[in-house]
Amino acid sequence: MKTPALPMIERVLLTREQVDKRVKEVAADISVRYRSGNLKLIGVLKGSVFFLTALARELTIPVKVDFLAISSFSDHGGVPGVVRIAKDLDESIEGDDVLLVEDIVDTGFTARYLLQTLAGRGPNSIALCTMLDRTPRRIVPLRVDFCCFEIPDRFVIGCGLDYKQLYRNLDFIAVMKPDKA
Ligand code: IMP
Ligand code: MG
Repeated sequence: MKTPALPMIERVLLTREQVDKRVKEVAADISVRYRSGNLKLIGVLKGSVFFLTALARELTIPVKVDFLAISSFSDHGGVPGVVRIAKDLDESIEGDDVLLVEDIVDTGFTARYLLQTLAGRGPNSIALCTMLDRTPRRIVPLRVDFCCFEIPDRFVIGCGLDYKQLYRNLDFIAVMKPDKA
C-alpha cells in the first residue's frame, strides 16, 4: 500500500527507499556476523513479519525461520510489562544461533521477556535485531545488537506496525496524528 494520503498520517518518517537501503546494510552486517553460524531468525507475529521477510531476502547466508506470537499489554500508552507467549515456535532452538527479529523495541518488556525465555532453551547464541528502536521510552535496559533506525517518541505505523491491526501494509513508516492514535 503506497499512498501517504491517509487522514491519520501526520508525516512520513521513513520512505520505502530509506527502509530498503538500511535493511540491506543491516542484512550485510548480519551475513558477516553469522557467516560460519547456524542462523535462525525468530519473528514476533504479526508486526515483524514484513521486516523479517525483507531482511531474510537480503541475507547472503542460509537461514532458518520460525515465528512466535505474544499477548502484550504494553501497547503505547497502556500498562507495560505483562507479556506471554500466545503461539510458540514450531521447532527447538537448541544449538541454533538465534536472532530475535522485532518491528520495534519500545519499553523493552517484550524483547526482554522473549530473550530470557528463549535463552533458557539452549541456543548456541541469542541476539536481538529490530527495525525501529524508540529509546526515549525504554524502561528495561536492553542490548540491541542490530537496529535499522532510532526513532523519536511518536506512535508510528507501516512496514508491519499497526494501529488497531490496520496499516501494517504501508510500504513506508509514518507518524500518526496525535488525535488519531
Ligand atoms: P515494548 O514491549 O514496549 O518494547 O513493546 C513492543 C511492542 O509494542 C512492539 O512489538 C509493537 O507491537 C508495539 N508497539 C510499540 N510502539 C508501537 C508503535 O509506535 N506503533 C505500533 N506498534 C507499537
Ligand atoms: Mg511487535
